[in-house]
Amino acid sequence: MTPGGQQRPAVVVVGASRGIGKAIAEVAARDGAPIVLAARSAEALATVADNIRKAGGEAFTVPLDVLADDAARDLERFLSANSLFCDVLVNSAGYGLRGGATVLPLEEQLGLVDLNIRALAELTLRLLPGMVARRRGGVINLGSVASFTPGPYMALYYASKGFVRSFSEALHEELRRTGVTVTCVAPGPVSTEFLATSGANRVALFKVLPKLESDYVAEKAWRGFKAGRRLVIPGLSAKLTILLATLVPSAIMLPLIGRLQRRSKDPCPCGSGKNFTACCGARGNSRGIPAQGR
Ligand SMILES: NC(=O)c1ccc[n+]([C@@H]2O[C@H](COP(=O)([O-])OP(=O)(O)OC[C@H]3O[C@@H](n4cnc5c(N)ncnc54)[C@H](OP(=O)(O)O)[C@@H]3O)[C@@H](O)[C@H]2O)c1
Repeated sequence: MTPGGQQRPAVVVVGASRGIGKAIAEVAARDGAPIVLAARSAEALATVADNIRKAGGEAFTVPLDVLADDAARDLERFLSANSLFCDVLVNSAGYGLRGGATVLPLEEQLGLVDLNIRALAELTLRLLPGMVARRRGGVINLGSVASFTPGPYMALYYASKGFVRSFSEALHEELRRTGVTVTCVAPGPVSTEFLATSGANRVALFKVLPKLESDYVAEKAWRGFKAGRRLVIPGLSAKLTILLATLVPSAIMLPLIGRLQRRSKDPCPCGSGKNFTACCGARGNSRGIPAQGR
């Protein structure tokens, strides 16, 4: 509590234990606000908090699984117990899955929807009304270049990022003239653990695209948000990728992305147990339709 008994504005970063969230937390801390770091790994959060404090900033840690019941309420309770309010929310927790939608485990796919869509929407919708009442602050949501096109073989991930961009851009417009900003950040590949955990680093599409550093993305995201931007696309390669995705007709784009994101060793969606290329992908049958009599 401040001497006047008031709560202080904080930047709350969800997904702050590593990657882009950690980098945004570090950039935001340099602007002087207390940073609340949330993710599941308590130890990693403590390390990030130590680094922020060593650099002269103020940091709190909240080990939290945003998929747990009441996670958003727990976060609000933590803020209130520490005489803080959420001035800026950064939604950086997210994961990707690569593989045929009919082959990937259903639970993992639905878990992606819960994290990338439901948790992001809940945190945003719970914390925005307070910001609007105070006429300050806002939300940074991590989208992706993937939000600009459907993505065969990463179907739910691309769709989830499409949701994040659509939701964020609509809120940006709704909140015009309220003093509150909602910014969607849409990077291309960034050198973080995400590329390995999502399986993206094993596919041709992600191999050919240049990788950005998370510090660079964080700097662009934070400055863009502060400037009231609706959409931040860090780096020239991401801008060109998006231009291509919006100009090239879907009839060309979707088979191209599918081809680049599929691996010959992927199990065939038809359930034969063979790999895709040896089974339905053989002899140019790139749509995954089992050839008759095989
Ligand atoms: N890296 C890329 O190439 C790239 C490109 C475009 C967009 N993005 C997007 O940017 C965002 C951040 O990606 P990143 O590259 O920084 O990924 P990352 O390095 O894998 O970090 C993900 C963060 O989310 C946290 N997290 C995951 N599940 C959680 C849960 N249930 N509850 C709370 N926190 C959870 C993780 O911490 P714990 O494991 O400790 O919980 C970690 O801090 C994601 O939304 C991603 O889709 C990434």
